[in-house]
Amino acid sequence: MKKKIIPSNFLWGSATSAHQVEGGTLNDWTKWEQKGGSKHLSGKACNHWNFQQFKEDVERMQILGLNAYRMSLEWSRIMPEPKVIDQAVLDQYRQMLMTLQLAGIHTMVTLHHFTNPIWFVEMGNWSKASLAPFYTYVDAVTKALAEDVDYWNTLNEPLILVFMGYIIGQWPPGKREESVSFSNYYLHLRERFVEAHDEAYKIVKENTGRPVGLVHNFTSFEAAHDRAIELAIAEKRDQVDNRWIIEHTRNDFLGVNFYMRQLFDDLRLLPISGFGKRVSDFGWEINPQSLTKVLLGLKQYNLPIYITENGVADAADHLRADFIRDHIQALQLAMQAGVDVRGYFHWSLLDNFEWSEGYTKRFGLVEVNFETQERIIRPSAYVYRDIIQASH
Ligand code: FCB
Repeated sequence: MKKKIIPSNFLWGSATSAHQVEGGTLNDWTKWEQKGGSKHLSGKACNHWNFQQFKEDVERMQILGLNAYRMSLEWSRIMPEPKVIDQAVLDQYRQMLMTLQLAGIHTMVTLHHFTNPIWFVEMGNWSKASLAPFYTYVDAVTKALAEDVDYWNTLNEPLILVFMGYIIGQWPPGKREESVSFSNYYLHLRERFVEAHDEAYKIVKENTGRPVGLVHNFTSFEAAHDRAIELAIAEKRDQVDNRWIIEHTRNDFLGVNFYMRQLFDDLRLLPISGFGKRVSDFGWEINPQSLTKVLLGLKQYNLPIYITENGVADAADHLRADFIRDHIQALQLAMQAGVDVRGYFHWSLLDNFEWSEGYTKRFGLVEVNFETQERIIRPSAYVYRDIIQASH
C-alpha cells in the first residue's frame, strides 16, 4: 500500500491578520491610510472584530473542513496607552479563541503583524524606542491566553516590514532617517527585530510552554539561465534574505510564508512576473515548484515547518483552485523527500485590506462585499475542502 504522505494531525488552515480583517483599529497604519498611503482606508475591514460576524466566519471554516486558523492580535487594541492593558479586549480575544477551539479548530496566533500603537511610534518606533512596552504586551497576552493558543508566532515578516516601511518607505513609517546610511539602518533594524523575537520567544515559552516560531517570507532566488554568475548571486541573496534570520533566531518551528520566486538574469533581477504564463492580479508569477525548492533548502535546520501563508490575488477565482492544488502537491513532494511539514495555512480566509493596495487585491477563500459585509464562499475554496477531505 502507498504510504500516506499527509499525517492525520496535519493542520489545514487559513490565515488573516488583525488590521486586515478586524475593522475599527487605530494604529500607525490607520494614520498612514488617512495621509493617503493606501488606495483605501481600512475602515470596517471585514468586521471580523464583531463577535457575531466572527462566529459566522468560524462556521465558514467548518464548512470548508479546516482544522486550524492563524490570526494576529492587535497590539494597539490591547495596549491603548503605554502600560495600560485593556482587559475587555483580552477577554474578547479569549472568547474568539475558545470559539475556534470548540469548533475543533487549532489556533496559531501572531503577536506582531506589521502594525504598531501610535504611542510606540511617538516614543521612537522600532528604530529607537525602548522595547519594554512590547515585552509588557507579550507578557500580558501570553499569560491571559496561555490555554487558548496552540502555536505562537512572534513577528510576521520583520524583514519585509523593514524593507517596505523603513527602506523604500511604501509603508509606515515611510522614510529613512536622513542621518544614517542605508546599510547601517537596515542592519540596525534587523538587529532590533531579532532582539524583539528572542525576548518574546523566552516570554512566550515561560508563560505558555507552547511551540513558538518566527514567520518569514521566503522568496526563492533562482537563476534565469543557470549561468554561474546568476547561481552565485541567487545563493548570496538566499543567504542574506532567508537564511540569516533563521540562523540568528531561536525557533521551535519555522513559519514559512511563500508567495514568489525572484529570477536573476545575469546580475539583473527580472520583474516579479518572471517568465510567468500565469500571473496573479498582483502581477506575481505563479510557480509552485519554487515552494518545493524553498522547503528542501530548509530541511537542514531539522525543525518542523508550517506554511503560515500561501495564496493568490485572484478576484475572478480563475487561478486559485489550481494554485491550491499545485502548491499542496509541491509541499507533498518536499515531505516525500523528508521535510517535516506539519501544516498549510492558506492566505487568506477572507478578502481583506491588502496594505497599500487597499481592497483592490482579493486573496480570500471567501469573497467579501465590503459595502454590505456579505460573504460568498468561492468555488476554489471547495476544491481546498475536497483536498482536505481526501487526505483523511
Ligand atoms: C504577506 C503579509 C500578509 C498579506 C500577504 C499578501 O506578506 O504577511 O499580511 O498581505 O503578504
